[in-house]
Amino acid sequence: AQANVGVVGLAAMGASLARNLARHGNKVAVFNRSYARTEHLIDNYGDEGTFYPAKTVQEFVASLERPRTAIIMVKAGEPTDDVINELADLMEPGDIIVDGGNAFYQDTIRREKEMSARGIHFVGMGVSGGEEGALLGPSLMPGGSDESWERLKPILESIAAKAEGEPCVTHIGPNGAGHFVKMVHNGIEYSDMQLIAESYDLMRRGLGMSPDQIGDVFQEWNGTELNSYLIEITAEVLHKKDEKTGQPLVDVILDHAGMKGTGTWTVQTALMLGVPVTGIAEAVFARGLSSEIELRDEAAKQHFAGPQALIELGDDERKAFIDDIRHALYASKIIAYAQGFNEITAAGKVYDWHIDLAAVARIWRAGCIIRAEFLDRISESFETGQADVLLLFAPYFKKAIEECEASWRRIVATCAAHGIPDPVFASSLAYFDGLRSTRLPASLIQGQRDLFGAHTYQRVDEPGSFHILWAEPGQEEIQTSK
Ligand code: 6PG
Repeated sequence: AQANVGVVGLAAMGASLARNLARHGNKVAVFNRSYARTEHLIDNYGDEGTFYPAKTVQEFVASLERPRTAIIMVKAGEPTDDVINELADLMEPGDIIVDGGNAFYQDTIRREKEMSARGIHFVGMGVSGGEEGALLGPSLMPGGSDESWERLKPILESIAAKAEGEPCVTHIGPNGAGHFVKMVHNGIEYSDMQLIAESYDLMRRGLGMSPDQIGDVFQEWNGTELNSYLIEITAEVLHKKDEKTGQPLVDVILDHAGMKGTGTWTVQTALMLGVPVTGIAEAVFARGLSSEIELRDEAAKQHFAGPQALIELGDDERKAFIDDIRHALYASKIIAYAQGFNEITAAGKVYDWHIDLAAVARIWRAGCIIRAEFLDRISESFETGQADVLLLFAPYFKKAIEECEASWRRIVATCAAHGIPDPVFASSLAYFDGLRSTRLPASLIQGQRDLFGAHTYQRVDEPGSFHILWAEPGQEEIQTSK
C-alpha cells in the first residue's frame, strides 16, 4: 500500500483529476472498469507524477495507504451506487469514499447514511470546471463529516483553483450539502448561458449583426462588470468558423440545447422548497423548447405572422441599445444568483446544513464554469451581512439594479414588441416587480379559492381565517381564530 489517494473512473473528468493529483505530489492509485483507459493514462501521462495502476478493484484498494481515500468519478445514478458498494465491501471503518460526480443531493444523503452505518466516511463533492478545470484547478464543493474534511483538506487544497491565492474549496456542510451547492451552481450556469443567448439573439435577429460583430461585443463586455468565463468563451464561440463550410460555426450547429439533469433538479428542488428560481426555471424550459425542433418547424409552417424582428435604429441608437442589453443582462444575472442563493439558504434550513454563503461565493471565484468578477462583490455582501435578507438589498447590488433598471425595461418591452423570445430577461424583471410590490393580486386568488373550494382567506385588518358563504351574499364567517 503506497498511494495516499485513489481515483476510480478514468473518463475525461476522472483522468484529469488523477493527473492533477499526481502533479501536486500525491501518489495516486488509478482504476477503470476497462483497463485500456488506465493504460492510456499511464502511457501518455505516467511521467507527470506517481501513479499506481490497478487492474482490479481489489488491487486498487490494496494499493491505498490506510485509512484509505478513494475518489470516484463515474456516471451519476446506478453506476455510482455499484462502485460505492464494491469499494465499501473491501474497505474498512475510517476509510473515505468521495463521489466527485454530479450526483443528486438526495442520493448523496442516502449514501452517506448507508456508508456511515458501516463506519465509512462518504463525501459528496461537487467538482466544477469541466475537463480543463479538473486538470488545472477546479472549484471543489465537498460535503461530509468534519473528520473527513480534516483529512481531505490538504489534498483538495493542493489541486483546487486559486482565487487571489486562496484555494477554491471549502467544507460546504454535512452529507448532501456539497452536491446541493453544485446543483445550484449548475442551475445558475443554465441561467447565465440563457441570458447570454438571449443577448446574442437580440443582436442577431433584432439588430441584424453578424456572429463576428456580436463576438466583438462580448469581448468588449468581458472588460466590464460582466467579466466572466462564460462571456469570454461566448466571444470565442462566436468568432469560430466552420472548417467544412467556412460559415460561422454557430450557424451550422443545430439549435437544440442538451442537458444532463442538474438544471432540472435545481428547479424541482426549488419547487419543493417553495423558493422562486424563475431565471433558472425559464432557462431549463428554454432548453426544453429548443429541443422541440419538429414542433417549432410545424409552428413555422402555420405562418403565425408576428411582428418584424428587425429593430430599425440609427448608429447612436444602436450603440445605446447594445448598452441596454448589457444592463439587462447584468440585472437579470444578479436576480438569478440571488435566487440561487435563496435556494441554498432554504435547503440549509430544511437539512440543517449551516452553509456559509460568503464561502460559497468565494470558491466560485475561480475554477468553476460560473466564475465571474462580480462574485467578489457577492462574497463581500454576504461577509458583511449586507445580503443577509436578500442579495439585492446589499448596497452594491441595489445600486447596480437601479442603474440597470430603465435599460432592462426597455429591453423586455422591445423583445415583446419585436417578437424576440426573452424568457429569462422577462421573468427576472417580473420577479423584481413582484418583489417591489407591497400589494399583489394574490388577494384575488384567495377570493377565488374561497369561492370554489372554501379554502378560507386571511384579512388585512384582523387575525384569523375567514370564509364567505358565497351563496348567501355578504355573509362572512370566522373559521378559526388564532
Ligand atoms: C461544471 C459543469 C458540469 C456540467 C456541464 C454540462 O461545473 O463543470 O456544470 O458539471 O456537467 O456543464 O451540463 P449540462 O449537460 O446539463 O448542460
